[in-house]
Amino acid sequence: MSATTLTRCDMSSNSLYQRSVISANDIKLNDLELIFQVAHAFKKAPAGKVLNNKIVANCFFEPSTRTRLSFETAAIRLGAKVIGFANGEDISVQKGETLYDTMRVVSAYADLIVLRHPAEGAAALAKEAARCPVINAGDGANQHPTQAILDLFTIQECQGQIDGLSIALVGDLKYGRTIHSFTQLCSLFDVRLYLVSPEMLALPESVCNVMKKRGVRFSFHQNLEEVIPKVDILYSTRIQQERFSSAEYQLVRNQFILTPALLAKAKANMKVLHPLPRVNEITKDVDDTPYAYYFQQAANAVPVRQALLSLMLSESGQ
Ligand code: CP
Repeated sequence: MSATTLTRCDMSSNSLYQRSVISANDIKLNDLELIFQVAHAFKKAPAGKVLNNKIVANCFFEPSTRTRLSFETAAIRLGAKVIGFANGEDISVQKGETLYDTMRVVSAYADLIVLRHPAEGAAALAKEAARCPVINAGDGANQHPTQAILDLFTIQECQGQIDGLSIALVGDLKYGRTIHSFTQLCSLFDVRLYLVSPEMLALPESVCNVMKKRGVRFSFHQNLEEVIPKVDILYSTRIQQERFSSAEYQLVRNQFILTPALLAKAKANMKVLHPLPRVNEITKDVDDTPYAYYFQQAANAVPVRQALLSLMLSESGQ
């Protein structure tokens, strides 16, 4: 996607208005162009009180730093009020209330629900229950579509384009919901993917089949050093201890640790991304190299989520 394409984007037809974002599959190229265009505008001028009378409900049943707080910052910058909870401990699910009923009721209090939940399919259920749009902020190991949107926004920002790039996806590709959403959005572009993971954490066959069907070029690797010189983006991910047994975790926890020495043969403009949080998969001294771009990526969460909220809740988008 080039800057020229973005300026051609038609703001008069807001395809995201009152829609839910549950899976990356819901996002088409014209949606992405619209989100990027509005996000660029918010990055330049963050304030814009287009959601003055709106209420956003942040409903988080799993820990989060970036997603919850960047949605909250985005909503506040747009003039909206934020309600919600940061875990499932203090709400009536503890008395046996279902997620369906909870979402149905919250949608009577808010104009949009942002939901993070440990169960795959929770966001789709919330969409069924709610009488307002729902954003999937991560449902188990399934999807995290808004992370993938901001990842591609960041790639376009640091490389000037998405088409034609070679991208390595490294780490836990089996349980990584950001990866599942990212690979689906990649099918909108002409990219080449290098999938680097321990064998037991390879990208699920179902996700690979979608990529094959859509003509995405990809290959599997276990040697990170060999892949690094070939790519424009290295997207590292955390091995997610919470998603499998302790014995399995011990087998894979120290594989693919990125260090400045490993980056010695990287292309000059190669950038390292990571959805964060990181544990030990990128050593701290990589932060001081010109390759590190993960903190800029985390900062982009705010303008991108401002764009999403404003387009979903305001027909004119801005
Ligand atoms: N990237 C991401 O989803 O981070 P959090 O878990 O902190 O929200």
